Amino acid sequence: MSRAELFRVLGDPTRLRILALLTREELAVSEIQEVAGVGQSTVSGHLAQLKGVGLVTARRDGAHTRYAAATPEGEGNVLRFVADAPLPEGDAIALQRVLAERESPTPEGLGSDYLPGRSWEALAHLLLSLVPPMRIADLGVGTGRLTALLAGHARQVIAVDRDAAALERLPAGIERRLGTLEEPPLGEREVDLVLLSQALHCVADPVATLRRCREALVGGGKIAVLDLAPHTHAWVEHRLGHAHLGFADLGALLTEAGFHNVTSRVVHVDRRSPAFTTVLAIGVR
Ligand SMILES: C[S@@+](CC[C@H](N)C(=O)[O-])C[C@H]1O[C@@H](n2cnc3c(N)ncnc32)[C@H](O)[C@@H]1O
Repeated sequence: MSRAELFRVLGDPTRLRILALLTREELAVSEIQEVAGVGQSTVSGHLAQLKGVGLVTARRDGAHTRYAAATPEGEGNVLRFVADAPLPEGDAIALQRVLAERESPTPEGLGSDYLPGRSWEALAHLLLSLVPPMRIADLGVGTGRLTALLAGHARQVIAVDRDAAALERLPAGIERRLGTLEEPPLGEREVDLVLLSQALHCVADPVATLRRCREALVGGGKIAVLDLAPHTHAWVEHRLGHAHLGFADLGALLTEAGFHNVTSRVVHVDRRSPAFTTVLAIGVR
């Protein structure tokens, strides 16, 4: 292995973040994914390159393979500059959380409320089956898990995102429209429901976006916005592209955008670090 190859491998910001984590803890791929917020194939690709130059070793531990930072032969100091620099705040918090979950794993999503067979996904199917099928525009799809869930119960789901890859990942049967939240590619009065789940905080002018969403709704149609209450985690700006650190009054934004019968309430308080609070606001055109 040449020194040039070693520095080429080090010269990637995501690989450096992963390596910095592995100087602190031995981690499985799923744990690195959770802390770094990147997909499995991306993590595996970076690990393969780090392993290729001897910066990472792998150890089998039951069902998992765990990875740790290593010093390539003859390169005694090379890990120091990643090991000595503090982790970015978001990574440090996420790492703490992953390690705490390792200590006391809880059944998915329901913690101490655990009942055999109950999950948020099963409950979501139950609740969605109780509402009449609608035409829904889901703006900002992320992993697409929510979009896919809606599609199982809706008359039509239109998925909007500026990320073509996010749209491509969606299952068949969902209408994909590449576009922005600022100028959503929706026709006048095209849908019964507009959903903005953890997406509104990404736009600079939320009221302008809400006004555009209102135009896409039929009379009596609803908007549902799930977003964060005000918080101080500035790392979400550079790491996740948030333009707002939560919203102090989501209901007031909906009212300003012309919605009526507006309601807004806290629907989830996460007790685990970084402890975000989720607000649900609903408005009617
Ligand atoms: C956190 S994810 C949404 C999560 C998803 N709605 C859910 O509840 O699981 C945010 C999504 O919004 C998209 N996004 C962010 N800003 C955007 C913009 N200005 N226009 C279009 N899409 C945007 C991102 O590409 C990403 O897919």
